[in-house]
Amino acid sequence: MRMQNKIGIVTAAGSGMGRAGAIRFAKEGASVAVVDLNPEAAAAVVKTITDAGGKAIALSGDLTDNDFARGIVRETTKAFGALDFLWNHVGSPGPASIEGLDWNDYDFTMNLNVKSVLITTEAALPELRARGGGSILFTASTSGLVGSQFSPVYNVAKFGIVGMVRGLSKRYAKEKIRVNAVCPGPIDTPMLRVFVARPDSQLPAGETPETLVQKRAGQTPMGRPGQPEEIANAALFLLSDEASFVTGVALAVDGGATA
Ligand SMILES: NC(=O)c1ccc[n+]([C@@H]2O[C@H](COP(=O)([O-])OP(=O)(O)OC[C@H]3O[C@@H](n4cnc5c(N)ncnc54)[C@H](O)[C@@H]3O)[C@@H](O)[C@H]2O)c1
Repeated sequence: MRMQNKIGIVTAAGSGMGRAGAIRFAKEGASVAVVDLNPEAAAAVVKTITDAGGKAIALSGDLTDNDFARGIVRETTKAFGALDFLWNHVGSPGPASIEGLDWNDYDFTMNLNVKSVLITTEAALPELRARGGGSILFTASTSGLVGSQFSPVYNVAKFGIVGMVRGLSKRYAKEKIRVNAVCPGPIDTPMLRVFVARPDSQLPAGETPETLVQKRAGQTPMGRPGQPEEIANAALFLLSDEASFVTGVALAVDGGATA
């Protein structure tokens, strides 16, 4: 098993890629804290894991609450005794235009996508250090690598994540704490629908969110959206000891979209 005896946290793990990752890591031997705003979703993921003989706890709350973002590290070490990895997966698309932007939306997007994950990371560092090293993964996006005409604030946030990964990876390399990002293209999850159906995203005439999802996904060279499990596979590699010489990387998993 590729994560035998590892202990970790996955945020936004009640759905989509985070859910796929939490289930996969537990199958590979990890004990997992499943963090999500939605308590039923988090509990359902924990049940899937424990029914299959794995170890998991649910931690539900809002990661824009700084105490919660910090507290998930404490709760995880209380339950499992230590921490080896952290997948900061939480994020949201944010507003689709800077014209007429409600700056409260800007603040919310930056708080969730950038500040909350830094707070959790700060709390995790002493625990990883105490284990003699560990692995932190951030979810950026292809919007952290190339421009998106529909997501100026998301671009700011996700380029910020990639920048943070580059800097933190250098700072903590000697302590054997690796820091990487995964950059998904369009992935078949509820968030992809939220993304195209934002009130200010001006759906072209004749399009529904679903036709637009298929169209956007069809624009990847592979001609399809990715599946959450395909991101979980990449996350498993980056978080596990198999990636022991990999740090500071922003890995696109996007069907060739940024090629
Ligand atoms: N789906 C895509 O196409 C895509 C592409 C690139 C990057 N991403 C990134 O992936 C991440 C999430 O994507 P997904 O597609 O797996 O999402 P999803 O919609 O399947 O799940 C998101 C989960 O996050 C939880 N959540 C939302 N706000 C929260 C908060 N404040 N505190 C705690 N939990 C919260 C929700 O309850 C939900 O369970 C984000 O960082 C997003 O930017 C998604």
